[in-house]
Amino acid sequence: MNDASPRKVLFSGIQPSGMLTLGHIAGALRNWVALQHQYECYFCVVDLHALTVRQVPANLRRWTLDCAAMYLAAGIEPAHATIFVQSHVPAHAELAWVLSTFTGFGEASRMTQFKEKSVQHADNVNVGLFAYPILMAADILLYQTELVPVGEDQKQHLELTRDLAQRFNNAYSPTFTVPEPYIPTYGARLMSLQDPRKKMSKSDPNHNATIFLVDDNDAIRRKIQRAVTDSGTTITYDPEHRPGISNLIEIYHLASGEPIEAIVERFRDASYAAFKAAVADALVAYLEPVRTRFQQIRSDEGSLAQLLVEGARRAARVAERTLRNVYRKVGLWRPQY
Ligand code: TYM
Repeated sequence: MNDASPRKVLFSGIQPSGMLTLGHIAGALRNWVALQHQYECYFCVVDLHALTVRQVPANLRRWTLDCAAMYLAAGIEPAHATIFVQSHVPAHAELAWVLSTFTGFGEASRMTQFKEKSVQHADNVNVGLFAYPILMAADILLYQTELVPVGEDQKQHLELTRDLAQRFNNAYSPTFTVPEPYIPTYGARLMSLQDPRKKMSKSDPNHNATIFLVDDNDAIRRKIQRAVTDSGTTITYDPEHRPGISNLIEIYHLASGEPIEAIVERFRDASYAAFKAAVADALVAYLEPVRTRFQQIRSDEGSLAQLLVEGARRAARVAERTLRNVYRKVGLWRPQY
């Protein structure tokens, strides 16, 4: 962190709206860990985003700490990264307001995640759900972020973020860095174990569809054994035509680090049952240490809280600078800057 030239900034976040899943590791956490030494990193627990769906308050509070603990358990090193909770840094909500005045209604209406969630939560299609990607843009732009490691489902939100940054920069003068998404080649969209045409999700009502990072070894084995596969007998990687088996190959790759081609080569003639047993073994070996670390970290809430307080303080200093700059440029008056 004491390099002569400042490092480029990386920002990402996860909603604490449930227990984290293998999908969060695949699309986000493992890439955060891999990139953390090359960038100045901000990892945010985006609790304000979680409010767009009705939450049980006690659960939201618990999941916020669980989420931060899971960042650490997955391998984020607090010495290299600022870990904090979104609502502790008011600049996020404040910049989101300004950016909302630069976002077209039609532009926000085109977001596919909004369209999907409006169907999923038809009884509560609130304005926050609609404005959600604008808050995400504010998260990213406050820190002059260059790189945003996310899963495939966030790509469109990143495009909106880039458009907003460019629009603001053109309207005034260069203010925001225009960020790039970082989407992994494999694991960018881990699929449901029960319906491989659907994304693996923490809110899936069928718990067999999702591997949670706190699942015990028996649950992991059971879920992998019951995973829906495609008709056919060979182990081939073809996400379009063989989504079930391809998803298991990606999970094996994620857990073992072995290249996809090598996995396919080795298991080509194995039975589905034998391959599933190998996937379950690899996944148990991969997740067990994460779960143990999570339990250790979570059992010391005082240290975790302290880390988040310090993280918010550091983040707020950077975020405030950008927000002040934005307020000045758009013409908000203040006695002294
Ligand atoms: P969220 O909380 O839904 O998911 C967090 C991250 O995990 C990835 N992810 C997956 N990747 C692969 N396969 C899956 N099945 C899977 N499920 C989840 C997501 O793509 C995401 O990268 N809007 C964001 C949170 C956010 C954010 C930000 C992200 C708010 N502000 C700023 C980056 C930068 C979201 O809802 O992610």
